[in-house]
Amino acid sequence: MGKVIAITNQKGGVGKTTTAINLSSCLSYKGKKVLIVDFDPQANATHGLLRLDEIHGENVYSVILEEQDIRRSIVHKKHPDLDILPSNISLAGAELVMDKIDNGKERLLKNQLDQVKDDYDYIIIDCPPSLGLLTTNALTAADSVLIPVQCEYYALEGVTQLFLTIRLVQKTYKPDLKIEGILLTMFDVRTKLSVEVSQEVRQNFRKQVYQTAIPRNVRLSEAPSRSQSIFEYDNACIGAKAYRALTEEFLKRNERG
Ligand SMILES: Nc1ncnc2c1ncn2[C@@H]1O[C@H](COP(=O)(O)OP(=O)(O)O)[C@@H](O)[C@H]1O
Ligand SMILES: [Mg+2]
Repeated sequence: MGKVIAITNQKGGVGKTTTAINLSSCLSYKGKKVLIVDFDPQANATHGLLRLDEIHGENVYSVILEEQDIRRSIVHKKHPDLDILPSNISLAGAELVMDKIDNGKERLLKNQLDQVKDDYDYIIIDCPPSLGLLTTNALTAADSVLIPVQCEYYALEGVTQLFLTIRLVQKTYKPDLKIEGILLTMFDVRTKLSVEVSQEVRQNFRKQVYQTAIPRNVRLSEAPSRSQSIFEYDNACIGAKAYRALTEEFLKRNERG
């Protein structure tokens, strides 16, 4: 059965989508069967992987709230060999609609993903930058959470807040929700701040923090405009190297023993 991993942090611009796209792509190049679920109304993961002519209209909103069949809504990409459940802007209104549901409003995504879990090795959910019902749905559907942390001021405050939400979800809906790992992103060795923040995060969260830190690399920010992962866009750049190293570490943690 596939493992469901939510990539989450209520802060925007910390590298969630970049990590969702490139970790999923690298896992696929390693022979894993991967579904990426775009659960952000901004649909950055969708457009970072699919050209407009590849998106046929079905999306995660219609799947969770309009009984659209999940298998028929998944779009297949060839290079890398990935399945994508697209998002679109309609998801921005989802929390209002979900909130009116009396029973099980936090399990809408889980109910759908359970139907396809057996088809995949990994299902990666790219979360929106908030701690509302969408994120609660993602955490309830997930087996574990991967938390990207940008190497900047206030990084730790944000993570502390996120851990409170994770504990709440563990207590209320999902006692066995695990921490997959904490990932330092946009690391810049030349700045004292990057080094200080990374030391602080490592001291606080120890083994939960991946050894691999993702460096600031402009190639990583360019690739989505071509709807490509970093491995098609520039396989030799330091961003591609870093996401390959992260994927190795991720697989080592998951395939141990
Ligand atoms: N390691 C990196 N180096 C340079 N730019 C990055 C890096 N990671 C992400 N970016 C860019 O920073 C912006 C925010 O990243 P994104 O992954 O979209 O964050 P989030 O999904 O958390 O909002 C995007 O424009 C992205 O291309
Ligand atoms: Mg994003």
